Order: sequence, then C-alpha cells, then structure tokens
Amino acid sequence: MGSFYITTPIYYVNAAPHMGHAYTTIAADVIARHHRQRGDDVFFLTGVDEHGEPVANAAEAQGMTPQALADLNSERFRALMPRLNASNDFFIRTTDPEHKAKVQEVLTRIKDNGFVYKDHYEGWYCPRCADFKSENEIEDSNRCPIHHIELTREQEENYFFKLSAFQERLEQLYADNPDFVGPRHRANEALAFIKGGLQDVSLSRAKLTWGVEVPWDTEHVFYVWFDALLNYYTALSYARPGEDLTEKFWPPQLHVIGKDILKFHAVFWPALLMAADLPVPERIYIHGYLLMDGEKMSKSLGNVLDPLVVIDRFGTDALRHYVLRDVTFGQDGSVSTEAFEQRYESELANGLGNLASRCIAMVRKYRDGAVPAVQPELREDFDGLAGEVAALIDRAELTPALELVWERVRRLNRYVEETAPWTLANDPANAERLDVVLATLVEGLRVVAVLLASVLPETTEKLLATLGAPDTAYAGATLTAGTVAQVQALAPLFPKDIPAAAPA
Ligand code: MSP
Repeated sequence: MGSFYITTPIYYVNAAPHMGHAYTTIAADVIARHHRQRGDDVFFLTGVDEHGEPVANAAEAQGMTPQALADLNSERFRALMPRLNASNDFFIRTTDPEHKAKVQEVLTRIKDNGFVYKDHYEGWYCPRCADFKSENEIEDSNRCPIHHIELTREQEENYFFKLSAFQERLEQLYADNPDFVGPRHRANEALAFIKGGLQDVSLSRAKLTWGVEVPWDTEHVFYVWFDALLNYYTALSYARPGEDLTEKFWPPQLHVIGKDILKFHAVFWPALLMAADLPVPERIYIHGYLLMDGEKMSKSLGNVLDPLVVIDRFGTDALRHYVLRDVTFGQDGSVSTEAFEQRYESELANGLGNLASRCIAMVRKYRDGAVPAVQPELREDFDGLAGEVAALIDRAELTPALELVWERVRRLNRYVEETAPWTLANDPANAERLDVVLATLVEGLRVVAVLLASVLPETTEKLLATLGAPDTAYAGATLTAGTVAQVQALAPLFPKDIPAAAPA
C-alpha cells in the first residue's frame, strides 16, 4: 500500500470530446479504481489543455474568443467525466491562474539553470498538432502525417529549451529503467528518437497571445506543450484548497497517453523535469488508436463515434467494457456499433448478466435466498487469480487482465450446465450437493464482481448489493465460505431491449 498518482493527457478544447478521449480516461480510471481497491492512496488527474494554436485557430474559425471556446468545451469535457464514471480527483484547466503561475515559476527555474536561450527558428509546422515536424516525419507534399493537412513554413524569433543537453541523461534514464515507457516497442521508439540526436525545441511563441506569458519577456507566450506537460506537476499544488499534495504524490506512478504524443511525454517531459531539478515519472504507458474505417478516430477527420450516444444506448459500463475488451490495450484496433452490440449481447447480457440472474434465482427458489455456509468448489479455477490479474494491471495489460476474469465468468456458466442444479433440486437426497453448488456459484459470482469492480463499477455495485457483500477491497477477491449469507432479487444487469441506433 502506498500512494499512486495517475494521469490522463489533458485534452484540447478546440472541439467537443470524442471516443478517443473517453478511451484514455476509461483506461486510466480502471487502473485508478483498481489501486484504490488494493488500498493505495490514489490521486487521479485529468483535465483540459486550453492554450495554443489548435484552440486559438478553432475559436477564430467560429468567430469566438479563445476564452469563450475554452469555457464552452472545457465544460463539455468536465461533464463527460461523471458520464464515464471517471473517478478523477481533480479536473485541471490550464487557464487556472494557479497553473499559470506555477508554469512561470518552473520555466523560470529552467532558465535560471541555464537551459533557455533566444534564437531564430524556421521549420514545417502543423497548427493542429501545435508541433514542428522534422524532415523525416513529413508526408508527401508537405503534409502532416496525422492530420493530412498542409504544413506551414514558420519562422520566428523564439526562446529555446536546450533539449540537446539532455541526450546522455535521457539515454541513461532508459538504460536504468527498462519499464520507464511501455509497451516495450514504444520505449524502443522513444530511445531511437533520442539516439537519432536531439535538437533544441522552441519554448515560446512570439506571434501567439493565447497562452501563458513568458515572465521575463511578455511579448512571448510559452509554447503550449510546455504549459500543458507541466499540468501534471502544477495540479498537485492547488487541487486541494489549503493543501499542497506535491510532496505526497510527486513523481507520478503512471502517465497514460495515446501514441500520438509519445515524443512529448517520453522525450521532452523527462528532460524538462531534469532541467527543473525535479524527479521524473516512474512510468509512461502508451496505448494505440481507436480506428474507424481504418483511420484514427478524430474530430478533425470527422469519423467519430460519440461516447455519449453509446452511453445513452448501452450504459456506461458497457462502453467501459467494450473499449478495453474489443481492442487490445496498447495496440490499435477498430471499433464499430455492430461490434459493440455483439459484445454487449454475448459477454454482458448472456455472459455475466445471465449468470447472475440464474444463480440468484436458483438460491431464491431452492433455499429461500439463504446461501449455504459450506466450502465452495472450483478452487483450482480461482486460486491465484487475483494476484495474476493485479500483476497484469500493474503492467497496464488491461485486456489480458480482463480476459482472465471473463474466463471465470465462462467457467461459472459451464459449471451451471455441468452441475444442473435444477436436477439436483428434484431429489432431497442431493441436498448437500446442491448446497455446495449454490455456494460455489454465489461465491464465484462475488469474486468475479470484485475483480470487475474497476471496469464495471455500476453493475458490480448493484450485484454486490444484491449479495449483501458490498465490500470491493481487493483482498476479498478469493473464494471464501460464508461471505454471502442472503441474496436479494436482482433486476436484469444488462437488459436486452436496447433502443436502436439513431439514424446518422
Ligand atoms: N493537449 C494534448 C495533450 C497534452 S498532455 C500534456 C493533446 N490533446 S488531444 O485532445 O489531442 O488528446 C490526445 C489524446 O486523446 C491521445 O493521446 C489519446 O490519449 C486520446 N485520443 C484521441 N484520439 C484517439 C483515438 N482515436 N484513439 C485513441 N486515443 C485517442 O494531444
């Protein structure tokens, strides 16, 4: 047991949230909830990135001020969090005055430490990424590899961060901490980038006004990425009024991000922290893209599945389940409404939902809801399971971790078929055998619910309440006789009469 600080990226407020943002938030939330179950003192941070060109340009296009657009969309992101059942402890906005002051403080320290200088810069720039692209990143006819829009040639007088000074220390960081970045192939990618030779990066922008002012030269604002990355640090200083959590939670145990922002997190970020004499995060986990029609789902590409629409139809738990089950966390994967419906039906309604209804109905029918206080069977299927699941979650291998639990859901459904309690119930001579079977089913169901509590918080809460065993402490995720005494009636966990999709 210890402290566990976990973050999502802070999302750009140039547009409304979409499934990609929901995805990262859900994954981080599952890990945060899992650690709370293990008794850790968790701080889970998410929020929005409000400055920079992506937001300034979107606001201009809509005839709004950047602040008005940021206010509007920040509210949408904030409102998304409870809809996803995200258990974030704070929601940061980079327009928070406390954040801005702290960014100025840290970046001034970096300057005082000798890592900032003024120079000229010219390069190919993508305003949607807010990033200069190196020659080998550029697509044919000067296009952004992510947004496929034409890059602009930008030239300006900027302050620079001496990233090049950190080449050796970064290589050492990766050598000393093979798990600093996961999955492994992403660490290799980051290391290859570092070994390819680091160039200094622009720390400020002179033309833009929508950002945090450079305190030593107020004609400039900080380049949005430095302002944004520092959110992970600044938030701790003001998230709880009257308290500074930095001491307690810094450095973070885990940053969860998508692969589009690997370079910033795996290269710039640790260098920036080193330049400020701050400890670097323990681990950064990089997941893949949710794809639709083979392309990254993205608002600017116009191929998005709206998480709120999905939640309205299937419920929050179904969304959380689907994105972590259907796409292997860490890899790219396609999502679609059809696949959603299929998973919902096969795994949630017919798998877990049906198991729960059957078990509870049988205990009520054959034993008046009283669960026999006898030793459960199926030890060989459950012994060691909780440890294995936790070990996988510790490596952020969420999909295989879930598969271990769903194997047990299927095992319990097979056990119902094998033992046929309805036949046992016909002959009083089988009463003892029926006791064991019912006790095993209820206890198996309870253990599965505790293990799934981080992914399906709503469903498992209902289920565990029905069993009169609401405790989700992870230590309780083993088969134990007598934990559940009495079961109540249970309404279907995953109703099958889902409303049809609204026409597009
Ligand atoms: N503001 C920056 C991040 C700053 S963090 C210090 C940014 N914002 S963003 O709104 O573009 O969000 C990017 C993140 O959203 C990705 O890294 C990923 O976590 C998530 N996703 C956005 N689209 C996604 C998919 N199509 N698939 C999976 N995740 C996606 O970059």
